[in-house]
Amino acid sequence: MHQPIVELKNVSKSYTEGKQTRLILDSITTHFQPGEFILLLGHSGSGKSTLLNLLGGIDAPSSGEVWVNGAAIHQLNDHRRTLFRRQHIGFIFQFFNLIPTLTVLENVTLALHLNGGVNREQEQRARRLLERVGLSHRINAFPDRLSGGEQQRVAIVRAVAHNPTVVLADEPTGNLDEETGQTVLELLLELTRQVNKTLIMATHNPEIVPLADKVYGIKNGRLVMSNPAAMSLKNGSNGNLSAKLKLTARKE
Ligand SMILES: Nc1ncnc2c1ncn2[C@@H]1O[C@H](COP(=O)(O)OP(=O)(O)OP(=O)(O)O)[C@@H](O)[C@H]1O
Ligand SMILES: [Mg+2]
Repeated sequence: MHQPIVELKNVSKSYTEGKQTRLILDSITTHFQPGEFILLLGHSGSGKSTLLNLLGGIDAPSSGEVWVNGAAIHQLNDHRRTLFRRQHIGFIFQFFNLIPTLTVLENVTLALHLNGGVNREQEQRARRLLERVGLSHRINAFPDRLSGGEQQRVAIVRAVAHNPTVVLADEPTGNLDEETGQTVLELLLELTRQVNKTLIMATHNPEIVPLADKVYGIKNGRLVMSNPAAMSLKNGSNGNLSAKLKLTARKE
């Protein structure tokens, strides 16, 4: 048994708007192991992005402890959380968050620049990853000249370019056509299945369920573990996607 890569202890998150406080995540305690592919399902507004933001150090919990890769994220100030994220986390945002004044290649290598510079090998890796997702002809373009799906592919490559330990993906295939969605999913799974990489993905797409090691739903602020096999039947998924992808769900 490995040390967990992610550990949540009694994590709650509430938001206050005016006089109203809403509890979004309610005393969540769980842990994920290195190398696991974790899927988060749940209806819109259930708290999937909120949870990913806590894991990525974008936001702090209202109470409880968030441990990632041995670091107590809940104890870090904003600046230290940002530094931690830049080194250890790859984050694919639901709304891309590309920097409009940087080109595709600059967006992709930004974390490397901020972490101290990009060497030749790292730049070549970034170019190769962009080629994998069919964007080598767009590396000098600015994000506002790209389609939604192209922007999403840049965001995916950016999340993995600095070789993070944990990749957090918020609806990473939401804007892609079926074929492109499969390509990026394949890339994500391949990259995250390299030694000890962990992928935590929020999605509405039930077709991804059979590929995951563990599937959780968020209901009334609580994290509820689901059985992937039962989920895929319930959602009418027949495993088509896993059959189409070269990669299949890993055996225990
Ligand atoms: N900064 C904020 N201030 C106040 N309320 C917020 C804030 N961010 C999110 N919320 C609320 O918290 C709830 C959970 O939002 P969240 O974005 O985590 O949902 P989600 O499960 O990712 O939904 P979707 O599937 O639509 O992306 C929603 O009701 C949302 O309105
Ligand atoms: Mg969301």
